[in-house]
Amino acid sequence: MTAIGQPISRVDGRLKVTGGARYTADIPLAGAAHAAIVHSTIANGRTVSIDTSAAEKAPGVLVVLTHRNMPRMNPVPWSHLRPQGQTYLPLQDDKIHYAGQPVAIVVAETLAQAAYAGTLIEIEYEVDPPVVFRPLMASEAIQPPQRMWPLSSSVGNADKAIADAAVKIEGVYTMPDRHHNPMEPHATLAVWDDDGTLTLYDSTQMVVGTRKLASLVLGLPEEKIIVVCEFLGGGFGGKSWSWPHTLLAALAARAVNRPVRVQLTRAQMYSMAGHQAATVQAIALGADREGKLTGIRHDSVNPTSLFDDYVEYAALASRHLWRASGGSHKVVHANRNSPVVLRAPMEAQGHFALESAMDELAYATGVDPVALRLRNDTDTDPYSGRPFSTRALRECLTKGAARFGWDKRTPEPHSMRDGRYLIGQGVAAAIFTHWRWPGKARVTLNGGGSALVEAAAHDIGTGTYTVMAQVAADALGLTPDRVAVRLGDTRLPESHPAIGSSTMANATAAVMLAAQAARAKAVELALTGRDAPFAGAAADDVIVADGRLSLPSRNLDITYAELLARNGLSSLVGEGDYDPVEEVNGPKAIFSFSAVFAEVRVDPDLGLVRLNRFVGAYDAGRIINPKTARSQAIGGIIWGVGQALLEQSETDPVMGRFLNRNYSGYLVPTNADIPELDVLFVGEFDEEASPLGAKGLGELTAVSVAPAIANAVYHATGKRVRDLPITVEKLV
Ligand code: MOS
Repeated sequence: MTAIGQPISRVDGRLKVTGGARYTADIPLAGAAHAAIVHSTIANGRTVSIDTSAAEKAPGVLVVLTHRNMPRMNPVPWSHLRPQGQTYLPLQDDKIHYAGQPVAIVVAETLAQAAYAGTLIEIEYEVDPPVVFRPLMASEAIQPPQRMWPLSSSVGNADKAIADAAVKIEGVYTMPDRHHNPMEPHATLAVWDDDGTLTLYDSTQMVVGTRKLASLVLGLPEEKIIVVCEFLGGGFGGKSWSWPHTLLAALAARAVNRPVRVQLTRAQMYSMAGHQAATVQAIALGADREGKLTGIRHDSVNPTSLFDDYVEYAALASRHLWRASGGSHKVVHANRNSPVVLRAPMEAQGHFALESAMDELAYATGVDPVALRLRNDTDTDPYSGRPFSTRALRECLTKGAARFGWDKRTPEPHSMRDGRYLIGQGVAAAIFTHWRWPGKARVTLNGGGSALVEAAAHDIGTGTYTVMAQVAADALGLTPDRVAVRLGDTRLPESHPAIGSSTMANATAAVMLAAQAARAKAVELALTGRDAPFAGAAADDVIVADGRLSLPSRNLDITYAELLARNGLSSLVGEGDYDPVEEVNGPKAIFSFSAVFAEVRVDPDLGLVRLNRFVGAYDAGRIINPKTARSQAIGGIIWGVGQALLEQSETDPVMGRFLNRNYSGYLVPTNADIPELDVLFVGEFDEEASPLGAKGLGELTAVSVAPAIANAVYHATGKRVRDLPITVEKLV
């Protein structure tokens, strides 16, 4: 029996529920001082004076750093992906570009002393009116310099096709700013050793990237920086970049010559560590009378900070799913900190526009929404012209519809009821980018017949420790409980950040290669080592299982323990180096797919929307662990429900501050909001995607939940809500 494919429970589950898993802020450090960050209350202008005298005399205070005495840092070039971090560096000058920008850091013996001293700092500002983004500003948006992907695209003449089409759908879809809201706040512990080595315990999705950024900004060689993050209490993209507090902690620790611990307050989580930018998306579809698309145009605008051109590539969603689209991305610079990726960035927003518009097209043509999507299905990526490696979207639609009972749906709005409640059923499909990253891993097979996997990759709560144990176990012929996994430390083999739902296909593939290399060494010993038990046999005839190697043709076997002992070895080490980056331009287009089905119950008097039930059908290639995969799927769906019905960050139009500053003011779904969720996996081994046959899953499951719910709300009420979240005032 192979470990891959088994619904194994998380190997770190026990540690987590017993408090044994150490999160960054909980790591004990002898002699650590505590820091509190003081932030700007204005969104635009400069500080005229900062009086720190009372704070400096407060009990326990070790140092107060402001732009006047903070060491200078090296500027970093802006890039979406490398290195990942806001380019505006903290405490370097008197300028204020966003509300919540750090203006001082206080280091004291205790956290309470640091926080109290921070309140004693008196700041005088010169205030300029902030630029606050409003959707109406989309018409003033500008195209930034070319970035990661083309900002505009044109395949064929979409505008002419739409103009000539028998059926046209046009709409503007808007989505608000959102915040990541991980339970674990961002935190950094900075420690300088006597030899000048900096260790950063940091709550991050990218230990390697954090090291790179810190190296550039602080002017330290990478070999002198260690970054550690073994457990993450939620990241959702907010921890895939470095933010100012990490750099402040490093410099504050040097200033006081002691370890320094800094943790953002819950309120600071809304201004110091990124957010998802609002989008204003104009979409137009052209189709024939049977609903076959002839053209799509999709243009998206998002606000960004004054200093970084963060582009939310929402219109990319429309390039690959049904037809290639014409489209563009523009930005509006505003007084806010830099936006960043959040829970299926680009796709989750883009699909709300695209898959809502497809529902409008279904009603305009009278074609059933599932049939409409089947009619527009394609085996070839419409944008690149390459065939898809695998695309089980048809199975997602048909098997999902069967599980949901879609055939019992009556299409007219208002036609389904449950007592006084209106019932609505909606469907949406999704396509998700398959990310490729290089990664290395090391697998050590020990004399006792156990193994150790090591990589500077991450388990961000999705089950990486577990699936890596499964993958290594199969390659070595061990059971997963014999495999230990160490992650999240730059001293381990370099791997990629935990972003883009990429860890299974890439970092875990490197683990498979490393484990296979260790196995090959063991087989070699059995064939040619001291007192070789299988001398003269072919390597391919050797089987590994149950902690031993066997040669069935000669009825021979030997345990790893015995083999290593016979050769005087305590361990065997295999290295894995997976680098799929050149294959980005390979012959196949690789994406994950889904079709999701929502049923809502709407109170016609109060406009309240409740989710009744939900079915998600996913093609994410081969599923390595159905239990952790299902867990990711229901997590993604729940966040999608948040996007559809609850989540929005609001900005004070005069002060330019985010008003949500706590969970009480930022709604996310709770258990009471979520019914039983039904999850199906319909994908198969995709050899182009990864040696493991897996495609990205986690974020895929957050995509198209919002349009499925919005389409269900339309079915229930006859109201097309094009602005998220769908709150009561939009329905009454
Ligand atoms: Mo994820 S939003 O790609 O960190």
